[in-house]
Amino acid sequence: MARFFVLDNVSYCYPGSAKTGVCQVNLELEPGTFLAVLGANGSGKSTLARLCCGLLKPTAGRVLVDGYCTANDEELKDIYQRVGIVFQHPDNQFVASTVEREIAFGVENRIMSSRAIRRIVDAEMVRFGLTALRTAQPHSLSGGEKRLLSLADIWALKPKLILVDEPLAMLDPGTRERITQLLRDLRTEGQSMIWFTHGLAEVMAADQVLVMCKGRVVWRGQPATLLTMAEEARAWGITLPPATQVAYELGINSPVVANESELVSVLWK
Ligand SMILES: Nc1ncnc2c1ncn2[C@@H]1O[C@H](COP(=O)(O)OP(=O)(O)OP(=O)(O)O)[C@@H](O)[C@H]1O
Ligand SMILES: [Mg+2]
Repeated sequence: MARFFVLDNVSYCYPGSAKTGVCQVNLELEPGTFLAVLGANGSGKSTLARLCCGLLKPTAGRVLVDGYCTANDEELKDIYQRVGIVFQHPDNQFVASTVEREIAFGVENRIMSSRAIRRIVDAEMVRFGLTALRTAQPHSLSGGEKRLLSLADIWALKPKLILVDEPLAMLDPGTRERITQLLRDLRTEGQSMIWFTHGLAEVMAADQVLVMCKGRVVWRGQPATLLTMAEEARAWGITLPPATQVAYELGINSPVVANESELVSVLWK
């Protein structure tokens, strides 16, 4: 299958900073892939996310989306149409004065009749439970509502690849579960996705995991394999699922425990 998304030896240094933000990252994605990028605070996840969608240009290497290169300004429009980013901090994403205008903003740049725009905006507000807040100011919403709006913003545009940067951070358990389910639905629809986080439990369904440490990719493989690597995961600042951590501390190495129900059944044996 064609690789629609390629990172070719991508590096990035922030201007004036001695530290490397991202160093020599290589990646090829097939359509429909769910990739998880894991790493500690400051490991370069958000920098990589911004490089992936063209908001930052590599200081070395290339980012290619369907053959378009983020280094070329005249190709950025084509890239923005294909790659959508849900920022780590939703406030950075909002540009409009009300929830419905916010969702409509990106859609208006793409299409077409005002009736079609209205239909999309209404459908996304229903999907994300934002209908009652349609006239509210995005910046005045609660943390959970802001996260839902930031997802609705990008969802409405149906990009080929969605980047979600710490989508579950600072949410209560109910909202976490709701957003997890919305992202699961999107995956079921075959959406290509890169999910940036430090929590392995969030991305156990990923097709592939890439671990970053100090801007470099230090490991790649399957999420289930990472469950067996408690020492390395700790050194890389990755949070293992709580049940895996408990099993590890109890000295239970086999079978590998991925969640609470597996831990309970191992303890009952
Ligand atoms: N605007 C900036 N100017 C200079 N250095 C920056 C800037 N933004 C990030 N950095 C540095 O780049 C490195 C990677 O930061 P980045 O935000 O990508 O990490 P992260 O993995 O997303 O961290 P977190 O988990 O805390 O969100 C850090 O050392 C950070 O201090
Ligand atoms: Mg970050």
